[in-house]
Amino acid sequence: MSSAALVTVHCSRFPGRVRAQLLDSLRSRNVNPKFHYDSYKQTRKWLRLHEALSPARNDPACEAIYDQGLAAVLKRLAPGPVHLIGLGCGGGHKDVRLLRRLRREGRDAGYTAVDVSLPMVLVAREAAQAEVPEARCHAVVCDLGTADAASLDDLLTRQEPPGAHRILTFFGMMPNFDPAHILPRLAALTRPADSLLLSANLAPGADYAKGTFQVLPQYDNELTRDWLMVFLADLGVEPSDGHLRFVIEEDPATGLRRITARFEFGQPREVWVENEAVRFEAGADLRLFFSYRYTPSRLREQLGRHGLAIGQQWVTPSGQEGVFLASSQIRSPRAEG
Ligand SMILES: C[S@@+](CC[C@H](N)C(=O)[O-])C[C@H]1O[C@@H](n2cnc3c(N)ncnc32)[C@H](O)[C@@H]1O
Repeated sequence: MSSAALVTVHCSRFPGRVRAQLLDSLRSRNVNPKFHYDSYKQTRKWLRLHEALSPARNDPACEAIYDQGLAAVLKRLAPGPVHLIGLGCGGGHKDVRLLRRLRREGRDAGYTAVDVSLPMVLVAREAAQAEVPEARCHAVVCDLGTADAASLDDLLTRQEPPGAHRILTFFGMMPNFDPAHILPRLAALTRPADSLLLSANLAPGADYAKGTFQVLPQYDNELTRDWLMVFLADLGVEPSDGHLRFVIEEDPATGLRRITARFEFGQPREVWVENEAVRFEAGADLRLFFSYRYTPSRLREQLGRHGLAIGQQWVTPSGQEGVFLASSQIRSPRAEG
């Protein structure tokens, strides 16, 4: 492994934009979840909590559904090179599992790790190098929530071998975004010939409200609190300045339920982003994080609104995680040309 990494930074992550979005998050009292993955410290803490609590790391049935998803993709792949694009790759654990399987199947595979967080991209890129030669392993720092799809598509295209079959992964990402915001972007990036593998944390059981309540302890715990508080601590907010609580909310626009972390200030506090101050009065309520919980039918419905159709799905016996193989139903000029 070489002593340096080449990383492409999309303009959606240039400092001026990040600063403006941070101020917007604070002024609107709604922190975009992406701000919880920025630093090396946040990345370390998230990876630790993911390892400790994620069913994907602790439930063999969960690992199996990722394998089944890839097996289904492999069945429909024509011979030739394959390029895996991990959208929101995190530490890359799931993508690397797929890359390992591709290598064992004798497929010539490359990888592009894409994430809003530089440290995440570096962790994923390093992990992927066990399966993919360094020259075929690319790293892109990009905000998928704000990047314009055409410029990101161009950037990704330059890193793929011409004619490669593309597998896009969007694992664990749906919970962190408003679906009406992210799905048009995901649809614009997905070409009709691509295989799109997604996964989502699900609300188990037939009763949606009860199922969401059942998984609340996966969020309301010390590891998650510790991770989320790093964002506030970096702005100079002390734990004693208020109270962090987890609630379940229903999004009126979609009827989807989300687990939300809210920090209620117990005393006034001013936070500074360079020379700009944002003031929180006692009683101010800051939404610090949210995670949507889906059911397979709710996910299918949301994707369908944006021209993405689920062909196959695999759900763990616990009903808490699902992998979905989707494709784009939109005929793009690229596909026709
Ligand atoms: C819940 S983790 C999922 C990570 C990985 N795909 C997995 O399933 O283990 C969410 C990931 O999305 C990334 N992320 C959050 N907001 C993002 C955004 N706006 N654009 C790109 N990546 C984002 C985070 O940095 C984090 O790595």
